[in-house]
Amino acid sequence: MAYEELPGESEPEDELPHGDVTEGVVRVGATVRRPVRAQSGAVADYLQHLEAVGFRGAPRFLGRDRAGRDVLDFVPGAVAGDPPPAWAADDELLRSVGRLLRDLHDASEGYAADRGFAAPTGTQWFRWPSPSEAGPAAVPVGPPPELVGHNDVTPQNVVVREGRAVALIDFDLAGPTTRLEDLVNTATHWVPLRAPADVWPGWSRTRQPERLRVLADAYGLGAAERASLVDVAVARADRMWWAMRGAAEHLGGGWARMWDHGVGDLIRRRQRWLLDHRDDLRAALA
Ligand SMILES: Nc1ncnc2c1ncn2[C@@H]1O[C@H](COP(=O)(O)OP(=O)(O)OP(=O)(O)O)[C@@H](O)[C@H]1O
Ligand SMILES: [Mg+2]
Repeated sequence: MAYEELPGESEPEDELPHGDVTEGVVRVGATVRRPVRAQSGAVADYLQHLEAVGFRGAPRFLGRDRAGRDVLDFVPGAVAGDPPPAWAADDELLRSVGRLLRDLHDASEGYAADRGFAAPTGTQWFRWPSPSEAGPAAVPVGPPPELVGHNDVTPQNVVVREGRAVALIDFDLAGPTTRLEDLVNTATHWVPLRAPADVWPGWSRTRQPERLRVLADAYGLGAAERASLVDVAVARADRMWWAMRGAAEHLGGGWARMWDHGVGDLIRRRQRWLLDHRDDLRAALA
């Protein structure tokens, strides 16, 4: 679509609440404008695939505007802030997040499989940089990918209507992953898998095993993946510690702020909590 035809070109720009990293996300009429990033081309291709296969749970990619920004559908609804308020801790909402992630994965099946889930020629997925203090072998490697997923399904990246998740937004971290890794990441933020002292006000500090099961059931997770979920979450915590460290060092900005505010220690506390509660979590999933 030519930029002259983009909707809302002459309407006022309303600033949207910004997350940790991306500044300058604005609403213009029925569209959202986001600054172009290294991964924008790859994300646009993925969003176009999702639209083509009829997946309704993501904004459509509409093109680039005169200012060179990505133009996407504005998806009406509520989005949680940070920290996520108590309304976001509802079990029915959690269930709908699980179903939406399952639908995304099903809609992603086969996408980019012929190129080993690499981004289209001339584009790239977001990649976590390695911290320089780590030798290449020190940073744990994730499992071989089986599809392209969202990789950042936080309360701040889900649009909610009438208490149900209707769309995923902010595909900046999209890329090759596994179904289970993307689900574990979603559980981390939505159950949440956090040490009780780190659980937000209004969220349950005792029902995490039960909520993990709610999410796994809604996703339709298979028996083998249920059995390995906690181990995958523990291993992922390791990788995320290195990833966040590397992003803070090489990407700076919001990544460095998150590191300075203790995200590395938060990840380590989560990992210890997962190890301490492994049996409870496994029993809930079985
Ligand atoms: N397509 C959209 N439809 C409706 N609201 C949106 C859309 N895109 C963004 N928003 C709103 O703007 C906020 C910020 O947008 P987005 O998540 O894309 O960037 P960000 O959170 O600042 O980025 P990052 O998570 O990388 O720091 C969202 O939390 C949401 O409230
Ligand atoms: Mg966001």
